[in-house]
Amino acid sequence: MKAKFTIHDCALLNLSQLGDRHGHLTIIENEQDVPFEIKRVYYLYDIPGGESRGGHGHIHLESLIVAVSGSFDVTVDDGHERKTISLNRPYHGLHIKPGMWRELHNFSSGAVCLVLASELYNEEDYIRNYQQYLELSHS
Ligand code: TYD
Repeated sequence: MKAKFTIHDCALLNLSQLGDRHGHLTIIENEQDVPFEIKRVYYLYDIPGGESRGGHGHIHLESLIVAVSGSFDVTVDDGHERKTISLNRPYHGLHIKPGMWRELHNFSSGAVCLVLASELYNEEDYIRNYQQYLELSHS
């Protein structure tokens, strides 16, 4: 797998935020507010304290990750470098490019992690072993 992207291509996007004292609203429109076509949406919740999720790589899939409630940290790794971004605002989305390894950790109590994904679920797009990911990203 020749990595086309690096962790430096994975950026925090500012999403729209409408609101006043009655509350706030964030809108994500397909291909306008997200730089890919959204094919799947899922969310993680009821995550026990100290638990980690998402320890895997993707070959083609790209995603936007939003802490719609609470906070957590996302580590992205391209096989050469890694960085950790804290998500704690419902109007910030972390864009993860294809070919990255990612880990989600340090969930606050009540955190909800929304994931907008560019592909339908396909286990063949996953790399679940970090050593294998490193070998693929260096090949
Ligand atoms: P997994 O991707 O391992 O979760 P995480 O990386 O967040 O820890 O998914 C957990 C289980 O759910 C696994 O058996 C695959 C299944 N799953 C689906 O069937 N469809 C999906 O869209 C997702 C995200 C997971």
